[in-house]
Amino acid sequence: MGAYRSSDWFGKKDKMGLIYRSWMKNQGMPEDMFDGRPVIGICNTWSELTPCNAHLRDIAESVRRGVLEAGGFPVEFPIMSLGETLLKPTAMLFRNLASMDAEESIRGNPIDGVVLLTGCDKTTPSTLMGAASVDLPTIVVQGGPMLNGKYHGHDIGSGTSVWKLTEELKKGNISYEEYAEVESCMSRSPGHCMTMGTASTMACMVESLGMSLTGGAAIPAVDARRKRLAQLSGRRIVEMVKEDLRISKILTRDAFENAIKVNAAVGGSSNFIIHLTAIAGRIGVPLNLEDFDDIGSKMPLLVNLMPSGKFLMEDFYYAGGVPAVLKQMQSVLKMDVMTVSGKTHSENIASAGVTYNKEVIYEFEQPLIPEAGIAVLKGNLALNGAVIKPSAATPSLMQHRGRAVVFEDIEDYHARIDDPELDIDETCVMVLKSVGPVGYPGMPEVGNMTLPKKLLDKGVIDMVRISDGRMSGTAYGTVILHVSPESAIGGNLGLVENGDIIELDVANKRIHLEVTDEVLAIRRSNWTPPMPLADRGYVNLYIKHVQQADKGADLDFLVGGSGPTVTRDSH
Ligand code: FES
Ligand code: MG
Repeated sequence: MGAYRSSDWFGKKDKMGLIYRSWMKNQGMPEDMFDGRPVIGICNTWSELTPCNAHLRDIAESVRRGVLEAGGFPVEFPIMSLGETLLKPTAMLFRNLASMDAEESIRGNPIDGVVLLTGCDKTTPSTLMGAASVDLPTIVVQGGPMLNGKYHGHDIGSGTSVWKLTEELKKGNISYEEYAEVESCMSRSPGHCMTMGTASTMACMVESLGMSLTGGAAIPAVDARRKRLAQLSGRRIVEMVKEDLRISKILTRDAFENAIKVNAAVGGSSNFIIHLTAIAGRIGVPLNLEDFDDIGSKMPLLVNLMPSGKFLMEDFYYAGGVPAVLKQMQSVLKMDVMTVSGKTHSENIASAGVTYNKEVIYEFEQPLIPEAGIAVLKGNLALNGAVIKPSAATPSLMQHRGRAVVFEDIEDYHARIDDPELDIDETCVMVLKSVGPVGYPGMPEVGNMTLPKKLLDKGVIDMVRISDGRMSGTAYGTVILHVSPESAIGGNLGLVENGDIIELDVANKRIHLEVTDEVLAIRRSNWTPPMPLADRGYVNLYIKHVQQADKGADLDFLVGGSGPTVTRDSH
């Protein structure tokens, strides 16, 4: 009898053992599947409502094959799947809920090791957060990006092209028919967004953390090598169980530092910060907002992908993918960290790590942008910090003083943004309140507010925008996000009035509201918090317990882990 934790279920020679085995046998499993071999959970975020993950049952079959080949017992199970595009008011509201689902499903079941099948943005952090709080041997198989979008003879990218073409439509440069044609040209194969949006960012994060096999981030969803990687991961997780290579042995401080540096190099999403912080909180690795600036902001941009650059994930894969980036960056990374392969990054990329296209992956010595990592800003407007992604911003706006044009909430923004009477010009700073974790609720991706039509018509393409929300990883612009504390809980952002002067100084990491403390105190005494938007259910729990963006927006009672032990039986 094996000594794995599943033997606490299947190894029992009593009434409980009978119950645990008998019902499983209704699926036709032979007796020897219960002989103490490693039981491998395949945690599937498949859903037809998460189109980016709709192919994952196929990928699960490849994982299953690998588990069986290595002598394991594969058991696939679903958890709540979060799709970016359909879920209202925002998938982010449910990231922590899905993480609870993953955590309890893994811990409560006879599982010795787990394969996380991920894809769309939130499906990666939610499953990793849950798995980290259990701490079993864990490997991630990313679902892979869609093939490049193809439209009217050129490549278009998920999300990024939507923002661009929507502006073109608004300016009257294209017809609605041309605009609508994009739908099927942009999303033409299984997989997640193929720009360096949040899904691709999360896939690269996983690989740089050492949580997937080498090359896992960039292989297109439909490339046969994606299935091969899944099958090999199925074989490998069985070995990881035998080696007791738990997730806590891989998710070390060094691994997190590597991920932050690689994120700068790939031009990853600003959402990376919030998700990595939450994962670190679950595994107990200290990581604060300043670390992202200290470790990442001086790192160069190497990967020329939308929205920071021009290519797409398919190109990135053919150019060498994350292994090539690791190789380029080896002088600044901790290459001796352990990964799920049982080997270090250096060993993993010894024979891989070749750059095949220097237009897509630049050399470390001659980067696309010398200092590209996400910058953390502080000041009286964001006492606990705010973030900006310089590689997606306009250099001339990174130092800017302007008059605030305030939108009290998203409805106010929609109602007035295209009003010809709106008192705004391109030097103004657009301020959006009540889009933080508590305020919206769920911190949606609305920070990259579309500019007023009258300014777009004038040819204005970027303006400074500030909010306590997030923006899509596929978005771009001089957009200050994640302002903490948020406006809805009394942060100074909530006290900004039309006409106030705001100063942005990215080089000096500063975001300042030119209003005296005395005036702010008076405004504060007249300020009333917005009404809570839910009086029951999960959303009510979320509003009461969600932490601010600088802490990763996890629920306060979910931080940390409870390990894999469950002592009591079910009957
Ligand atoms: Fe799913 Fe972009 S919408 S990855
Ligand atoms: Mg997103």
